[in-house]
Amino acid sequence: MGAEAYAPGRVELLGNHTDYNQGLVLTAAIDRGLRVRGERRNDRRILLDSSAMGRFEIGLDELQPQAETRWANYILGVVRGLLDAGIAIEGFSAKIEGNLPGGCGLSSSAALEVATAFFLLKLFSADLPALEIARLCQHAEHSFAGIQSGLLDPVTSIFGRANHLILFDARSEEVRAVSFPLELALLIAESGTERGLAQSAYNLRRAETQAAARALGLAALRDISPNELAERELAPLLRRRAAHIVGENDRVAGALEFLCEQDGAGFGALMNESQESSRDNFENSTPELDLLVEIARDLPGVLGARLTGGGFGGATVTLCTREAATGIAEKLTRRYSARSGITPRVFLCALADGAR
Ligand code: GLA
Repeated sequence: MGAEAYAPGRVELLGNHTDYNQGLVLTAAIDRGLRVRGERRNDRRILLDSSAMGRFEIGLDELQPQAETRWANYILGVVRGLLDAGIAIEGFSAKIEGNLPGGCGLSSSAALEVATAFFLLKLFSADLPALEIARLCQHAEHSFAGIQSGLLDPVTSIFGRANHLILFDARSEEVRAVSFPLELALLIAESGTERGLAQSAYNLRRAETQAAARALGLAALRDISPNELAERELAPLLRRRAAHIVGENDRVAGALEFLCEQDGAGFGALMNESQESSRDNFENSTPELDLLVEIARDLPGVLGARLTGGGFGGATVTLCTREAATGIAEKLTRRYSARSGITPRVFLCALADGAR
C-alpha cells in the first residue's frame, strides 16, 4: 500500500521571532513545497531517497539524530514523534521531491516534517489533530535538528490558505486566515549566503528574549507594550532584543488594520520598520539581506521589504504592486548581483493552501 503527501514552504511577513515569545505572527504558505511518497515495508527499515539530498537508510529501532546526514533528521524526528504519540509506524520507503530550495529561510525543514507527518499518518491509517501535528514537527526540530524553534513554520505549512495571510497567535494558538489584496504581490529574494551560524544564533536569541522577559518580571514579552518597555530599566542588549519582539507584536496589530483598509503602503512601511529593527535591535540581518532590502526599497512599485524567517542569512520578502512585480524582480537581480557579486534567485510567490 502506498501514500503521498505535500507540504508548502512559508514566507513570514511580520512578527519576527515572536512565536516563541507567545506573540503574534503574520505569515503565508507559498506555492513551493515538498512531496513525500512511498510505501510500507515489512523489515522495520526506513529507506529515504531525496532528489536533492541523496539516499539514506536506517532501522526503525535505531532512531538517533544524524550528525552527517542532517536532512534525514527532520524525517527521523517526525517518526520518533509519531511513535511517541502511540502511532504504530512500521518500516517504509519514501521518495522526497519538490521545488522548495533548502537553507534559505523559506522553511524547507518544516515542509519536510509536515509532509512526512501527513504521509506517514496516511500510510499507517492514523490521524492526529492539525495543531498536534504542528507541535510534533516543532518537537522534531528541537530534539533532532537542535533548533529551539517556535510553531510558526509548521502551523503555516499546515494551515496556509490560497490568497490569504495566516495570523497566528502563539499564546492562544488561534489561527486565522486574512485575505490578501489581489493587486499586491510578494517577491522572495535569496541572498545566496549560507545560514552558517543560524542554529546557535537562533537559540541564543531565544535565550536572550526569555532573559529579558524574566528581568522585566513578565511571563513573556507579549505582556508589554513599546511605551511600557521604554519606561522600564533593562540592560542595553536585552532592551534591544526585547524592543524587536515588542515592536513586532505591535506591527502585526497595525498591519491587520492596514489590511482591512487595503492599504499596501501602510503595510509596507511596517515591513521596512521590521527590517530596521532586525538590523539594529535583534542583529539577525546580514549585510547581504540589508543590501537586498536597500535596493528593493528604491524601486518604483515597491511598498516594503524585510528579511523573512530566522535571519542570519537566507531570504528577503518584498511587497510590491502586482503590475510592477516582474520588472522589480529583474532589476533587483541585476543590481544585487552587480553590487555583491552574487546572483540571487528572485521569484514571485503566490499565497497557497497548506499541506494535503
Ligand atoms: C524560524 C523559526 C520560527 C520563527 C522564525 C522567526 O523560521 O523556525 O519558529 O521563530 O524563525 O520568526
